[in-house]
Amino acid sequence: MTDKERVLIFDTTLRDGEQAAGTAMTAEEKLAVAQQLERLRVDVIEAGFPISSPGDFQAVQTIARQVRKPIIAGLAHANAAAVDRAWEAVKDAARPRVHIFLSSSDIHIMHQLRKNREEVVEMAVANVARAKKYLPDVEFSPMDATRTKPEYLVELLQAVIDAGATTINVADTVGYAIPEEFAQLLLYLRERIPALGNTVILSVHCHNDLGLSVANSLAAIRVGARQVEGCINGIGERAGNASLEEVVMAIHTRGEFFNLTTGVDTRQLYPTSRLVSDITGFPVQPNKAVVGANAFRHASGIHQDGILKERTTYEIMDPLTVGVPGSELVLGKLSGRHGLKARLNELGYQPTDAEMVRLFEAFKDLADKKREVTDRDLIALMSNQRRSFDETYTLDHIQVSCGNHEVPTATVRIMGPGGQVHQDAATGTGPVDAVYKAINRLVNVPNRLTEFSVKAVTEGIDAVGEVTIRIESGGSTYIGRGADTDIIVASAKAYMNALNRLLAMGDVARAPEAVSTP
Ligand code: KIV
Ligand code: ZN
Repeated sequence: MTDKERVLIFDTTLRDGEQAAGTAMTAEEKLAVAQQLERLRVDVIEAGFPISSPGDFQAVQTIARQVRKPIIAGLAHANAAAVDRAWEAVKDAARPRVHIFLSSSDIHIMHQLRKNREEVVEMAVANVARAKKYLPDVEFSPMDATRTKPEYLVELLQAVIDAGATTINVADTVGYAIPEEFAQLLLYLRERIPALGNTVILSVHCHNDLGLSVANSLAAIRVGARQVEGCINGIGERAGNASLEEVVMAIHTRGEFFNLTTGVDTRQLYPTSRLVSDITGFPVQPNKAVVGANAFRHASGIHQDGILKERTTYEIMDPLTVGVPGSELVLGKLSGRHGLKARLNELGYQPTDAEMVRLFEAFKDLADKKREVTDRDLIALMSNQRRSFDETYTLDHIQVSCGNHEVPTATVRIMGPGGQVHQDAATGTGPVDAVYKAINRLVNVPNRLTEFSVKAVTEGIDAVGEVTIRIESGGSTYIGRGADTDIIVASAKAYMNALNRLLAMGDVARAPEAVSTP
C-alpha cells in the first residue's frame, strides 16, 4: 500500500488528440483506443465532443456503453444544446462526466466570443447548473486561462464552483505558460478559492507550443493539481498536448520527489503508444521520451559497457516497466498458434479469437519469407491487423514490371463490395505511381496524395517495410498505412487503407461540421 496521494490521469487522445490536423479515427478505432486506455487504467477518458458531429456523438455513446471502468467524459460548449448532447452521449456510462469549456481571457472574450466578462460568467454558471441537473460530475475549463486576468479568473471559477462544478481545469490553451509562473497562478487561485484543491479537484490541461506542456503539468502537481489532462504520444492541436506517458513516468520514476502516484499500469504505456500511432498514422519520433525507438537503446561504447555491468548506470527506467519488449525473442515458421498468442500477450496485446485467425495466417506468410520473426515484426503484424477495419475494397493481386529501360507498369486486382473482382492496369513514372494509377482506375475516388514515407521495421535486407501515406479529398486528410516485405505491396496496402478510410468516413465523421472544435 502506498500513502502517496493520487494524481488522476485524464486522457483526451480521443478528443483533443483527434483535433490534430490529419488525425481522423473511425468509431471502431476510437473504441479500440478507449479499450486500451481502460487497460492502461487511466482515470478519465474524454471520448469526444458529442455536438461536433453525429459520428462523434455515436462514438462517445458506444464508448460510454462499453468501456466501464474509467469515467467517460463528453465535452460541451457553454450552451444548452451542447450540454444536453454531451449528457445524452455519456449518460449510459458507469461513471459519466460532462466537461464544459468557455473562454476566459479578454483576447478570446472580445475577439472571438464578442461578449463582456459578466456575460461570460452568466453563460458559464447557467450551463454548469444545467449539467448539474443531469449528473453530479461536472468539469469546467476556463479556456485560455493562462492569458486571463487572475482576478477575473477567481470570480469566474468561484461562480462555477458555487453552481456545482466538481473539477476545475485550468487550461493553458495556447501553450503560453512557463512552469514557475503557472505554479504561481495556481497558488494564487487556491489561496482565493478555498474549495479549489480541496473539495473541488484542481486539474490542468497544457498545450505544447513552447515544448513546456509536461514541465507545466509537473509544476502544477507540485502545488496541488490532482488531475492532469493530456494525450498519448503528446498528440493534439498544433504542437500537441502534454504527453501522458511522460507525465506518468515522471511521477512514477520520481515518486519520492513528488510524493505522488497514479493508478496507471505503466506496462501498458508502450502498447498504447503503438496503438495510437498505428491508428492515427502519427509516427513516434525515435528519440521520444519513454516510448521512442531509441529511448532504451545505448549507442556509445561507454554507455554499453556500463549497461552490461549494471543496467541502472545509464537507465533511470526499466524498459519492461513501460512495456517495451525486453528480449528480442525470435519466432519462426515452426512456431505454433499458442506460441504466437503467448508472445503477443507478453507484448501487451490481447487479440480476439477472430483476430488470431488472421494474425496466424499473416504470421505464417511472413515466416515463409523471413527466417526469423522478431518482436518488432509481430508489432508490425498487429498494426496491419488494426488497419483492417470494415473495408470496402481489399487488395487481391498485384504485379509490377519496372527497371531502368522499362515503362513502369502495374496490374492490380481488387475485391469490391459483395466480393466482386475488378482488374485494371496502368503505367506510371515509377512502380508505386503505376500501382496507384491502376487502383485509381478501379476505385475512382478523386483524391491527392500529399505524403508518402517508407521505413524498415527491423534491420536486414529481408526487413518488413512500413509505408505511411496521407491523401486529401474534399478538404479532409486521410491516413493510410501498410506493411509487407515487398515495399510495392506495402505501398498498395497503404493506399487501399487510405481509400477505405475515406470511403468509410467521408460522409459521416467528415461531413461539414455543425459546430467547430475548441
Ligand atoms: O485547450 C483547451 O483549452 C481545451 C479545452 C476544451 C479544455 O482543449
Ligand atoms: Zn486543449
